[in-house]
Amino acid sequence: MKQYLISIADLSAEEIENIFQLAARIKKSPEKYRTSLQGQMFGLIFEKPSTRTWISFETGIFSLGGGTVYLGPEDIKLGVREEVRDVARVLDRYLAGIILRTFSHQTITEFRRHFSKVVVNGLSDFEHPCQALADYFTLRERLPKGRKPALAFIGDGNNVLHSLLLLTASLGGEIHYATPRNHEPSEDVLKRASAIAKKTKAVIQGGYNPEEAVEGADAVYTDVWVSMGEEKQREEKLKAFRGMQVNEALMKKAGKGAYVMHCLPAHRGEEITESVLESKNSIVFDQAENRLHVQKAVLLHLSGVKRG
Ligand code: CP
Ligand code: NVA
Repeated sequence: MKQYLISIADLSAEEIENIFQLAARIKKSPEKYRTSLQGQMFGLIFEKPSTRTWISFETGIFSLGGGTVYLGPEDIKLGVREEVRDVARVLDRYLAGIILRTFSHQTITEFRRHFSKVVVNGLSDFEHPCQALADYFTLRERLPKGRKPALAFIGDGNNVLHSLLLLTASLGGEIHYATPRNHEPSEDVLKRASAIAKKTKAVIQGGYNPEEAVEGADAVYTDVWVSMGEEKQREEKLKAFRGMQVNEALMKKAGKGAYVMHCLPAHRGEEITESVLESKNSIVFDQAENRLHVQKAVLLHLSGVKRG
């Protein structure tokens, strides 16, 4: 069994289902898992800021009986102070697992090649698998049992959308996305997602028109227009994403019951309006909470822990 979650494509549909079931059990009775990772130390190497990923992993590991060491942007300086492969081989001697948040996806894949235990992608420029799993878990809690979600994503074709595309493909639901031109998802992700979707009958549909994308959606999802590390492109991106805002007019097109989703942090007035983010259909804080439960399940799954 793989001990890493770097891309959603690292998990089979069956493994995803097992993780969701385990997450539901952990959420219901966290006390049963208090010693599941007893004595195990995890490292968190973060090249970028974080609220949810950092704190949910630290809290989650602590509540499973394990310990953490957080290493921020100024600490290890992967690939600058020392080569990634050297850091990985040293930490392999100390730690039971590592959670990495990096600029480049290749940093995580390279780290994984030289680290023999659990490796989790806590966001790279290319994917955010823990986020997508928590998002689908949240939808599963909300939608009637067995219903495959129809998700609309309005925004940037990068990390969050990539993981949602691959997850939708595996689970067999629908995803309709709208991005500005030149901000489409990667061709490689689209090819991989389409190949999986052929088997699962998932529907993946992309375009440039948010109104078309949200029609009939169970949930409308957006993410920041300027991702971490893109600050220099801010003005250019704000211009490119004009017309992509999730606002009340767009939510009306989606229909009355459609949920509002956002991975957070949110930039009110840019990708989403205050009124939509704070509306009664907004489930953004459930998504944030579920990061905790789902990641605990991911860690137990990757560590091969069978029982609480
Ligand atoms: N959604 C998310 O990953 O949030 P953080 O950047 O705060 O970890
Ligand atoms: N696309 C965003 C996601 C933040 C959770 C970023 O990379 O900054």
